[in-house]
Amino acid sequence: MTAHAPLPPAPPIGVLVELTHRCPLGCAYCSNPLALERPAAEIDTQTWARVFSEAAALGALHVHLSGGEPTARRDIAAITRAAAEAGLYTNLITSGVGVSEKLWGELVASGLDHAQLSFQGTDKATNDRYGHYEGAWEKKRAFAAMVTNAGLPLTINAVIHRGNLHQVGAFIELALELGARRLEVAHTQYYGWALANRAALMPPKAEVMDAIALVEAARPRLSGQLVIDMVVPDYYARYPKPCAGGWGRVAINISPSGKALPCHAAESIPGLEFWNVKDHSLAEIWRDSPAFRAFRGTDWMREPCRSCERREIDWGGCRCQALALAGDAAATDPACHKSPHHAGIEAMAAAEAKTGPSAIRWRSYKEKVEA
Ligand code: SF4
Ligand code: FES
Repeated sequence: MTAHAPLPPAPPIGVLVELTHRCPLGCAYCSNPLALERPAAEIDTQTWARVFSEAAALGALHVHLSGGEPTARRDIAAITRAAAEAGLYTNLITSGVGVSEKLWGELVASGLDHAQLSFQGTDKATNDRYGHYEGAWEKKRAFAAMVTNAGLPLTINAVIHRGNLHQVGAFIELALELGARRLEVAHTQYYGWALANRAALMPPKAEVMDAIALVEAARPRLSGQLVIDMVVPDYYARYPKPCAGGWGRVAINISPSGKALPCHAAESIPGLEFWNVKDHSLAEIWRDSPAFRAFRGTDWMREPCRSCERREIDWGGCRCQALALAGDAAATDPACHKSPHHAGIEAMAAAEAKTGPSAIRWRSYKEKVEA
């Protein structure tokens, strides 16, 4: 196999738009950057509408309306309508706590296709604690009912960590009870706030393996009823995930202020130049933006990735994690067992998993630290 050049890229499959970093929840595992963008910097409805037209023209098929909490934008229905009118499949990724029946009606009328609802636990105490929002449990359940009553497909998103790992089986039951068609069991990925809270969130390996086995046993039993996707924890993996589907290969993230990012944590890598949708078309960004070209393809790789048979399967793993754990964004992701850092991070994870309750840095505009 020879290294292949970064151009020309195929069109992105989808665009994830972080409409705002505002959010009523304060999840300890939030992957948003520690430096959240302020509301005054958010781009307007018309600019989003242009971006959606450009995304469709480029060949993208779907848009994920995300955040923060996307429904914190007063123009969320107009934004949804613009995406639908551009011909994109629209997926709302929401905490569900701020959506009134009136707003939900407007979203459906605007052409929303799908809703993805997060739960932080399968009982009120766990859910409200890890979302750092009292009363979220009831509101989320009410939101799920609005989605299914409207006949829209519902996905439940469960981010798993040491505090709720024992509830993986109960998450499956909750998804079935709420009428979801899909459940995402996503182990915490340690970026942003989750990296800051890693010691408090890291689960023990043996319990992770039990949870993975539980999901694998449930899949055939629930075939045709519930699809269960699973993201396994990097630190205990043998191979890394193809982060973002490979850098600059299939997806674009756009920040609230319009910065186009190859992945949600790309701004953690110093020296990258991010173009803004206010200044460049999406086609220009996708083709020529220095940030998208930085790690596209395989030319940038070093050993052991460069000559590895999996280099066009996992694309060297995650650049942001390589920087965070190996100090070099062009290094092999330490989640890979071929990385010289792999044994060290697995030992660190095992040690962190044994720590007792640790102080949590809840996600917030105003820093708040509580045990
Ligand atoms: Fe993937 Fe690189 Fe590991 Fe090979 S060495 S499996 S390409 S991360
Ligand atoms: Fe940036 Fe993985 S989060 S490449």
